Amino acid sequence: MEKEIVLSGIRPTGFLHLGNYFGAMRNYVRMQDEYQCYFFVANWHSLTTHPDTKELQQSVLRVVAENIACGLDPEKVALYVQSDVPEIAELYLYLNMLSYKGELEKTTTFKDKVRMQPDNVNAGLLTYPVLQAADILIHRAVKVPVGKDQEQNLEMARNFAERFNYRYGDIFPLPYAFNYNSELVKILGLDGNGKMSKSENQMTTLFLADEDDLIRKKVMKAKTDQGPLTPHAVKPDYIENLFTLMKLVSTPDTVQKFEDDFNNSSEGNCIIRYGDMKKQLAEDMVQFIRPIRSHATDLQNNKEHLIKIIRQGADKARQSASQTLSLVRKSIGMDYL
Ligand code: TRP
Repeated sequence: MEKEIVLSGIRPTGFLHLGNYFGAMRNYVRMQDEYQCYFFVANWHSLTTHPDTKELQQSVLRVVAENIACGLDPEKVALYVQSDVPEIAELYLYLNMLSYKGELEKTTTFKDKVRMQPDNVNAGLLTYPVLQAADILIHRAVKVPVGKDQEQNLEMARNFAERFNYRYGDIFPLPYAFNYNSELVKILGLDGNGKMSKSENQMTTLFLADEDDLIRKKVMKAKTDQGPLTPHAVKPDYIENLFTLMKLVSTPDTVQKFEDDFNNSSEGNCIIRYGDMKKQLAEDMVQFIRPIRSHATDLQNNKEHLIKIIRQGADKARQSASQTLSLVRKSIGMDYL
């Protein structure tokens, strides 16, 4: 039986962090054996918000390197850069004729971005969901591992696909958001305020590129309090988050020890020492991030090798993309040669 097709896009803005790792990349790594996977860096999309491309090239290569360091195997998946697959742009053109100004203006991501960059409301920003649909449909992918914030874009991709199929013939299966949702871990910033994020306070986010000492410093600065007042107290968000992180990077024994300390008291005083807990977490976090960081650094220092990898990815992607595109052209009647 043919494997189902999985596709996802990664924006090349900022450094990847622990939230990206446990929220997305770890899932990609799991999918690569079960599905036929296409993962790409969305550098055309980034032009809609970042017209200045001085740093773009380096960010794209870094994201590729970080994804491989996290366990994506370029032999198993097609790992490529969007702009290396021109077939996507042609499909985007056809889909643009099937998408309406009114519906595009209504999308929440568009409205957010208009608010953020009122002086640069370009047509690419408006048609961002059309390009995203082209990314997906060009491989006739059916499963798209993305977070909740992408639901609307996926719904639009299905609408465009249905319109195309209705007008020109059944070419596209309908794509749906997909995750191993049993374990979509949510990681908060180390201050307990909101999700760990690329752009907000850098000291509350653990990046995969952080050096050992910086990791230690960030973890030791994580928000705590004077400790629980009674055994079996309810944990505040920021404490729960430390336990969440510990479960991800420490041994079960270690987690159990601190759970027990949290829940027990001795002569009316709670036992847990958050300072000790953070010290342990910091060391385990260093052990976890170090090999990923050094693998990613090695790859980035070998640009030739990286380029070879994305060339191989582009070859695989273009093979699939050109098959879809020739079906598309035929069904529209744009196949003269
Ligand atoms: N819009 C996605 C994001 O903001 C990135 C993206 C671009 C994407 N094209 C895609 C995701 C295709 C999934 C499928 O994260």
